[in-house]
Amino acid sequence: MKKTWIIALIASLVLVLSACGSKEEDGAGKKVYRFATDASYPPMENMDKDEIVGFDIDFLAAVMEEAGLEYEVKNIGWEALLEGVRTGAEFDGAISAITINDERLQSYDFSPPYFESTNMILVPEGSDIKSALDLKDKKVAVQGGTTADELMTGIMGDGNSSLKKFESNALALQEMASNGVDAVVADSAVVKDYIKNNPDKKFASILDTENFAPEYYGIAFPKDKELKALLEPAVKKVLESDKYKEMYEKWIGVEPDMTRLIE
Ligand code: ARG
Repeated sequence: MKKTWIIALIASLVLVLSACGSKEEDGAGKKVYRFATDASYPPMENMDKDEIVGFDIDFLAAVMEEAGLEYEVKNIGWEALLEGVRTGAEFDGAISAITINDERLQSYDFSPPYFESTNMILVPEGSDIKSALDLKDKKVAVQGGTTADELMTGIMGDGNSSLKKFESNALALQEMASNGVDAVVADSAVVKDYIKNNPDKKFASILDTENFAPEYYGIAFPKDKELKALLEPAVKKVLESDKYKEMYEKWIGVEPDMTRLIE
């Protein structure tokens, strides 16, 4: 008799504790989907005091509202995000200006493309660098594990110590500001935003459509999970809405070109 009581007590304790410990459900018992981001990539995602803000954050909010789902976003950094969302144990999705490409499609599922981008080169005004190929024997900073890293490794060669890979793009930009490198390669919106917000530093951007192809961002999901299908119609709806245009103008500063985003 005593033994059954103890077992019952332990069992209920475990239940109560597991309910308190995770935020998988809100107070009303609704699932709270967990998203990861690397909030050091303005204007896409960035920290504003202790709040995560940016285009991606507004876009995700609109999509989750459209889908009627609860969610939270955590700032955990780029490498941790790629790892954390791959297994699906820690995160149900990631939004972080993530380019959809063949390599990533092996390990992740993606939402329909929601943003058109390309890599761009950031240089000091008056630099002799005019194209990506001019970077071959220069010092270049990129965020490690990004498409900029992949493209520049292709141009400069694997293991080239003049290609400096940083944990965040913010650190790559810092290296540039302190004259440690001749150029930074990163996504177009990010390069343009940095130039606009640092007029005193006198930087310029170079677009090289020959060496840097158009890229499209997607929300990343662990493979074969239900959330991808749940969000697909919501993503399409938001892309067609005025809301999308408004958030684009707010964060990117110009009107979006939707020709390749809407069928
Ligand atoms: N679009 C590039 C890629 O997918 C860079 C993304 C970096 N994003 C970030 N939040 N740091 O590789």
